[in-house]
Amino acid sequence: MTTSSAPGKVYLFGEHAVVYGEPAVPCAIERRASVTVEERDDGRLSVEAADLTLDGFTVTWGADGPDRPDVDVPTPLVEAAMGYVDGAIEQARDAADRPDAGFDVTVSSEIPLGAGLGSSAAVVCAAIDAATRELGVSLPAEEVADRAYRVEHEVQDGQASRADTFCCAVGGAVRVQGDDTRRIADVPTLPFVVGYDGGAGDTGELVAGVRALREEYGFAADTVSAIGDLVREGEAALRAGDLEELGRLMDFDHGLLSALGVSSRSLDTMVWAAREGGALGAKLTGAGGGGCIVALDETDGAKTALDYTPGCEEAFRAELDTEGVRAE
Ligand code: MEV
Repeated sequence: MTTSSAPGKVYLFGEHAVVYGEPAVPCAIERRASVTVEERDDGRLSVEAADLTLDGFTVTWGADGPDRPDVDVPTPLVEAAMGYVDGAIEQARDAADRPDAGFDVTVSSEIPLGAGLGSSAAVVCAAIDAATRELGVSLPAEEVADRAYRVEHEVQDGQASRADTFCCAVGGAVRVQGDDTRRIADVPTLPFVVGYDGGAGDTGELVAGVRALREEYGFAADTVSAIGDLVREGEAALRAGDLEELGRLMDFDHGLLSALGVSSRSLDTMVWAAREGGALGAKLTGAGGGGCIVALDETDGAKTALDYTPGCEEAFRAELDTEGVRAE
């Protein structure tokens, strides 16, 4: 039996625009997904996921595709989660040159599904790492990231960047632009506060919505480029350790993402609550549509304001996690 875990992440800047070759800066946070695998003899894949902020489910895959004895009504999110685990196991089989290997897989996660905290990337990275190690192969974090990206690309219909998967695999604060992925050194302490509305967005749909807007309106394409410019300013503020400037740019980024149609009433409400609570800045994180916001706040003000905000199901501080995927 082999267990690996990988961290979730927040986007300091750059989601959505990163899909079009602009830079993005995601940061790993100390909330993890864990995947335990055990090889089985019959070549089948059985997946149990009891703690994905959805009803727990158990699924068994055979040669003829998924057979779902314990899933009464597979929601689109559960379907997507199955696709991610299936894809991760395919990658592990490929990496270990064991195309017929079967596994019992158990997924547990502290990261809400589809809420902008990199849940799918964390599950995929942890599953690839655990399943390859179970087959006696140890992959460097960069290769886990690359294989996890291929899974996200497939499940998200070709509309994924390397940002989530690279960040969850290597940890810390990272910069991603197209295929150029790197860890950012000497990052200051970033006092993140996360607010979660209990909901989730559909990444594929949201990315497709931005694509359609960008194709229809030149000014939407300009908005995407403006996010890229903002990220470059943000990198300079990060290097300078200028938290006030980072906060101002987070507010600006949220406005541009709203213009692209990926915010929601609950995300806007939480962003404003965090700002009114004294945050230096606040923005949605991830694909949007519902889920989480991230604020920068050195005091308790933003978290307290979010604790009292109707529609905010949970608010928590999120420390930067300098470790990526790891054996447990
Ligand atoms: C989703 O977490 C982030 C997006 O930029 C999509 C991606 O980068 O793959 C919306």
